[in-house]
Amino acid sequence: MAIAPLIMKTNEYGPLISPFSDRGKPIYNWHVFKHSYSKGLVEKLIEEFKLSKGSWVLDPFCGSGTTLLACKELGINSKGFDILPFSVFLSNVKTRTYEPCKLRQRLKNFNRNGKLTVKNTYLPDIKIIEKAFSNDVKDELLYLKYKINMIRDLKVRDFYMLGLLSILESVSNTSKAGGFLRIDEKNVSGKEVYPKFLSKVEVMIQDVEEFNDNSKFTNAKVNAKISDSRRFSTKRKFDAIITSPPYPNRHDYTRIYGLELIFNFVGDNDELKQIRYDTLRSHVEARKKFKSNGYKKPSTIDEIITKVKKAGLNNSKIPEMIEGYFEDMYLSLLQMQKHLKKNGKIGLVISNVRFGGVNIPVDEILAEIGEQTGLSTDIIFVARYRGNSAQQMKKFKRKPSRESIIIWKNS
Ligand SMILES: C[S@@+](CC[C@H](N)C(=O)[O-])C[C@H]1O[C@@H](n2cnc3c(N)ncnc32)[C@H](O)[C@@H]1O
Repeated sequence: MAIAPLIMKTNEYGPLISPFSDRGKPIYNWHVFKHSYSKGLVEKLIEEFKLSKGSWVLDPFCGSGTTLLACKELGINSKGFDILPFSVFLSNVKTRTYEPCKLRQRLKNFNRNGKLTVKNTYLPDIKIIEKAFSNDVKDELLYLKYKINMIRDLKVRDFYMLGLLSILESVSNTSKAGGFLRIDEKNVSGKEVYPKFLSKVEVMIQDVEEFNDNSKFTNAKVNAKISDSRRFSTKRKFDAIITSPPYPNRHDYTRIYGLELIFNFVGDNDELKQIRYDTLRSHVEARKKFKSNGYKKPSTIDEIITKVKKAGLNNSKIPEMIEGYFEDMYLSLLQMQKHLKKNGKIGLVISNVRFGGVNIPVDEILAEIGEQTGLSTDIIFVARYRGNSAQQMKKFKRKPSRESIIIWKNS
């Protein structure tokens, strides 16, 4: 029988759990990644865990690289993994040290002056692309992609590519809406692409200048790689892990960040689908990938699934997803425990969810699963309460779910 963890409400973490406080912060705001937490949250956990310059921090779901960038600013070494190639790219580009004059030199190279000399630059034939971009917008984007790919210096090339990827949503007929990419006619003209790209890159260069002037970039080591949270391996043991896995709320990152992935990271729809199947089972299209020897499914999961089935669902795969999610999280926590030093700490941000109006206490279940891997739960901080989805709200009225930070120790 698992011991109930200490659950404590606190006002301190609430404003830090979403990326909104970073909207105006240089570099943190280079790409809108709604599923991230704030720099302040990482700083607070670093303080809580008593880390100092030279410590090593891991983030096995690094997303937009918030943990890595905040660590770098404080002189703390870090490593990140993510299954999405775009996330790994974004994390690396945001945490590199640049010479602004090298970046600036390139700015004048993009003026097209009406010429069209695009060679060997295509976008994969994937349905969403046709819906997302008008032909003249697509032509302009392909021209910029072509010019960027000609830059020999890899760091400079990646920097410009991120500038381009970061304007895609604004020149497309799509909007990132919660857990999916919504078609949203914006009637953008091809003429708007180049000025938007230039001003984006200009701001990014100014941010680099500001960081360099204020010596915000320490020489801490930082690196992100593509890997699966259930199977990653590195020789190092870490002082702490600061992370946030996908919540089991059906959000599919391969769709939300579909334009970025298609634009630069996948060759065709099969490749995109493979990443979708390989992601953690937090949405119904992900598939079982690994066996979980030693995992004992907490009894609450079956009780919840019975209730959820009774309540009626709009997708019959949800019970299987819920079960798969916790199994995948067991494997992920096992990897984290293996890579954590003795007495090392984990801070993991998660939200409870509801299906058919039934509350799933994801934080408590994960705390129990963490104990199976050898971690001991220090506390669950309740940071804030989030409203249910519009669909659920209509049917079951407003029933907020808590968003929490689970703190474990490797004792
Ligand atoms: C909540 S986001 C992390 C956001 C991050 N904390 C930040 O501040 O930007 C979760 C991330 O988990 C990644 N992910 C999903 N399945 C994964 C897996 N099996 N292994 C590693 N990463 C995975 C997603 O691609 C996504 O970037």
